[in-house]
Amino acid sequence: MKIVVTGGLGFIGSHTVVELQNENLEVVVIDNLSNSSIEVLDGIERITGKKPIFENFDLRDKKATQDFFKRHSDVAGVIHFAASKAVGESVKDPLLYYENNVASLVYILQELQKKPQAQIIFSSSCTVYGQAEVMPIAETTPIQVAMSPYGNTKQIGEEIIADVTKMSNINAILLRYFNPIGAHPSAEIGELPIGVPQNLVPFITQTGIGLRNELLVYGNDYPTIDGTCVRDYIHVVDLAKAHVLALQRLLNKKNLEKLEVFNLGTGKGSSVLEVIQAFEKVSGTKLPYRIVARREGDVTSTYANTDKANAILGWKTQSTLEEAMASAWKWEQKVRQR
Ligand code: UD1
Repeated sequence: MKIVVTGGLGFIGSHTVVELQNENLEVVVIDNLSNSSIEVLDGIERITGKKPIFENFDLRDKKATQDFFKRHSDVAGVIHFAASKAVGESVKDPLLYYENNVASLVYILQELQKKPQAQIIFSSSCTVYGQAEVMPIAETTPIQVAMSPYGNTKQIGEEIIADVTKMSNINAILLRYFNPIGAHPSAEIGELPIGVPQNLVPFITQTGIGLRNELLVYGNDYPTIDGTCVRDYIHVVDLAKAHVLALQRLLNKKNLEKLEVFNLGTGKGSSVLEVIQAFEKVSGTKLPYRIVARREGDVTSTYANTDKANAILGWKTQSTLEEAMASAWKWEQKVRQR
C-alpha cells in the first residue's frame, strides 16, 4: 500500500514525508524539482533512515501521470502538495497558475476515479476566507472572492474535489493552512525559497544571517494590537502531523462525509512585530527592520479556530512561536554553512 506525496520535496511536502515514514507508511514522492532540490531526499533519509521512492516528472504531463498510476496500481492515497504558491507571480502569469495548480489536480483525480476506492488530501489555504468578519475563523466561515489567481486556484481546487467526491469513489479532506513556518528540529530539511523570499519568516532569517540588509514591515496602521498585521504562524512539523492523521482517517474509513474540511493553525494570532521579537529572543540578534507602506492585498488579521481539527482529527499543535522561530533560525544557519 503506497501513499503518493506530490510536491514531496517541497517545504510542507518533505516534512509530511518524514512524518509518514515515521508511521511506517510507504511513500512515493512525485516532484518536478521546479521549486525544490533533489538533496531534500538525503535530508529525509538522514532523519528517517529511509529514502522514499522518487519519481521526477511534471503533473501537467497527462500521459506521464497516467503512466505513473499504471505502474503504481497499489496506491492507497494521494497527498497533493505540488502547486505554485507565489501570489505576486500568479497575478503576472495567471495561466501558469491555472495550468499548474488546476490541470494537474484534474489529471490526478481522473486516475483516482478509475480505482474502486481512493483518498486524496488537498493543500488548501486560509486565503479562501479573505478578511473574515469574525475571528477566530471556523471552517463554516463563508469563502470570499479570491484576491489573486493563486488564491483562486485553491478555491477552484476545493470545488473540483467537492464535485468529484459527490459522484465517485473518491474520499477527500481539504486542509486549509494558516501560515506554515519553521523547519525540522534536526535542521536536515526546511524551507528553501528561490530568490528573494516573499514570506515573512524566511525574509527574517535571511536578514538575520546578513543576506538581506533589512526587513520591510508592511504597515503599522492596521487596527491590531501594535498596528502590524496578525497571522496564525504554525510550525511545519505540527502541520505535517495533521496530514498523517487526516490520511489515516480516510484509510480507516473514519470520515463521516466524503468531503471534510479542517483548518490547520495554532488558534493564536501573532503580529509582525511579535514575530520579530520572537526571532530576536531565540537568535540573540537584533533584527534591522523599517516600517513602510502597506502591501497590496494583505488582510489585517487572520487566525484559526482549531476546534474541529482538535476534536475530530485528535490533533493539537505542540510548538510555540518561539520554538518555530528557533527551528527556522537553526535551519537558516545550517543552509548558509553549506
Ligand atoms: C501569503 C499569501 C497567501 C499564501 C501564503 C503562502 C499574500 C497577500 N498572501 O500569506 O495567500 O497562502 O503567503 O505562504 O501574499 N510581511 C512583512 N514584510 C515582508 C514579508 C511579509 O511585513 O517582507 C508581513 C505581511 O504584510 C503579512 C505577514 O508579514 O502581514 C505575513 O506575510 P507572508 O509571510 O507573506 O504571509 P501572508 O501574506 O499571510
